[in-house]
Amino acid sequence: MMINRKPVEKRAIYPGSFDPITNGHIDIILRGEKLFPRILIAVLENPKKETLFTTSERIEMIREIFKGHSGVEVKAFHGLLVEFARKNHARIVIRGLRVVSDFEYEFQMALMNKNLNSQIETFFVMPSAKYAFLSSSLVKEAYALGGRLDDLVPDVVEKRLYEKFRKT
Ligand code: COA
Repeated sequence: MMINRKPVEKRAIYPGSFDPITNGHIDIILRGEKLFPRILIAVLENPKKETLFTTSERIEMIREIFKGHSGVEVKAFHGLLVEFARKNHARIVIRGLRVVSDFEYEFQMALMNKNLNSQIETFFVMPSAKYAFLSSSLVKEAYALGGRLDDLVPDVVEKRLYEKFRKT
């Protein structure tokens, strides 16, 4: 039997708001790195969504975290994800599925993206159970109220949160 081998897809996109990036996102990216030689982290610039960190701040933190990873790139994007993917020659979108409640939203988004561009494939990655509850909002809320963030965000993020919430 002839097997039609297509070249391995070189670049996968991992999109999100990353306000801020957490160890849950990093867990997904590290898993993605094992599957794809290049990962493009796409940071959503959404004027309608108020963020704690500016787009530049979010990108700076991610660049700092992945500075030793030659296969990881970071860029801002706005507008349609499928359009950004097309411009960046990527057809794979990586998403994490943390809990059952993520499923409906992710399912709709994957189908919508497929509808907008039939070339796009979404790969779902199962995160580590220890990050299944994590979200950027919870991190911000817990920190703002004096909570500790042990093993939930990298040091660079905790330092930035300190500057936003606790530095006088
Ligand atoms: N670990 C920890 N937290 C995670 C996580 C993980 N693995 N995956 C997601 N989260 C958290 C995020 O921190 C975020 O938390 P918050 O709501 O408290 O801020 C929440 O889950 C949702 O994050 P995410 O799923 O990344 O959504 P988003 O709104 O940040 O980004 C986009 C979603 C960018 C992928 C989507 O809005 C998009 O593609 N927009 C472009 C417009 C477009 O193309 N629309 C048509 C497509 S349907």
